Amino acid sequence: MTATDLLASALGDLEALERDGLAALRDSRDAESVEAARIEYLGQKQGRLKAAQERLKALDPAGKRVYGQRFNATKGALEAAWTEAKARAERPAAAGAAADALDVTLPGRKTRLGHRHPLTQTADELIDLFGRFGFEAARGPEVEDVFHNFEALNIPPSHPARDTLENFYLSDALMLRSQTSPIQIRVMEARRPPVRVIAIGRVYRPDTVDATHSFMFHQIEGLMVDVGVTMADLKTVLRLFAESYLGTDVKIRFRPSFFPFTEPSVEVDMLWHGGERWVEMGGAGMVDPNVLRAVGYDPEEVTGFAFGLGIERLCMRRHAIDDIRLLYQNDTRFLSQF
Ligand code: PHE
Repeated sequence: MTATDLLASALGDLEALERDGLAALRDSRDAESVEAARIEYLGQKQGRLKAAQERLKALDPAGKRVYGQRFNATKGALEAAWTEAKARAERPAAAGAAADALDVTLPGRKTRLGHRHPLTQTADELIDLFGRFGFEAARGPEVEDVFHNFEALNIPPSHPARDTLENFYLSDALMLRSQTSPIQIRVMEARRPPVRVIAIGRVYRPDTVDATHSFMFHQIEGLMVDVGVTMADLKTVLRLFAESYLGTDVKIRFRPSFFPFTEPSVEVDMLWHGGERWVEMGGAGMVDPNVLRAVGYDPEEVTGFAFGLGIERLCMRRHAIDDIRLLYQNDTRFLSQF
């Protein structure tokens, strides 16, 4: 290789080194990559600039002069680029978009965990509570047939509760259940006594919405059938339940009432928050012998009680919520309180 060729090749390599080195330093966004680029190009031991300096030895005096000048210029450019890159990496706020994304001086953001809806919490607590009284959980369909929702519960076609304006009918034979009582029938059809179950679920009625009414709400149904079950057992279970769930300071009362599927029947009220008015918690009674007979139980042998309570109102009383609509609006300012 002639001296000219040798010089030309060394100068070409030097130019490529400068281009690559400047690009690497310009693209380094953090201290770590700036330092890696410094070691690769400006490193005292294995650096590429160091290697380029070694090539000076092979050149003739004229070549040395030309190459030496270019070498010094390249070294100066790379050092200046390194100083700039280092300063930029140390001042993240003044740097590019990648640095803007992280301000390590800000307090950390906490991950927000979701939790169960207050109504679900209430339902789970009720299942747990009645579980301790020996009641096991049962289920039934929300789209119910008219037979189970009414007929089997001793509610004849002429009964006002069956009115088309009082229910959500889907056809002549199907409806959105208006109560959880049809689950009593489904359980008794499937099992022999003794029976001790509760069932929780949605019920639908075209009621006008206000602070204590909704067209859809939840009920807890209870049913106990065994030898010698009496009204005293019903009242004891409901009082124990109210004391456990609402607390001993919440008064409840029983009023004589009428349901076609229980005899005698009562309505259960609780003293609302503020202590000025009674609000209905649900209905209850001794299972009518006609209902027992219709599912093949012998009313001479076994007796039973049943109750159906509104879950929204229980939850509202427990937490002093004054409007049922809050439970359906999914406003996280409300929900996060539970
Ligand atoms: N199903 C009745 C209602 O929704 C409540 C009830 C249940 C009454 C069980 C008596 C026995 O109003």
